[in-house]
Amino acid sequence: MRQRSGEPAVASDTTPAAAPPNTTEPPAAPQSGVLTKTSDVPVGSGVIVGDVVVTQPSAGDFKGFSAKCTHKGCTVNAVANGTIDCPCHGSKFNLDGTVANGPATEPLEPKAISVDGQDIVLA
Ligand code: FES
Repeated sequence: MRQRSGEPAVASDTTPAAAPPNTTEPPAAPQSGVLTKTSDVPVGSGVIVGDVVVTQPSAGDFKGFSAKCTHKGCTVNAVANGTIDCPCHGSKFNLDGTVANGPATEPLEPKAISVDGQDIVLA
């Protein structure tokens, strides 16, 4: 911090902005609707893309769910050992969205997805 007395604060209209104007920043989810690639979703597991969970319970069978836990609304944060896990209170969901372990009692909300070539897209 430099503060010199006697030096007037000069207002300059050429002062660089702290951050560039943020007009065309893309949202977290791709605008094209492509969530992920089929090859990125392991069979018997899944991936979390933003607020969507994409699973592949069996080869070629892809399912989509909201990543919002039906217990208190946390975002599930892992797909491991065949379940979709919520970090908040330990709920686990099966790859078909049903509850594997409480305290959640309701299945994850399904999200319509479809396979478009190599891509998995929001339907
Ligand atoms: Fe997910 Fe409570 S919000 S277990």
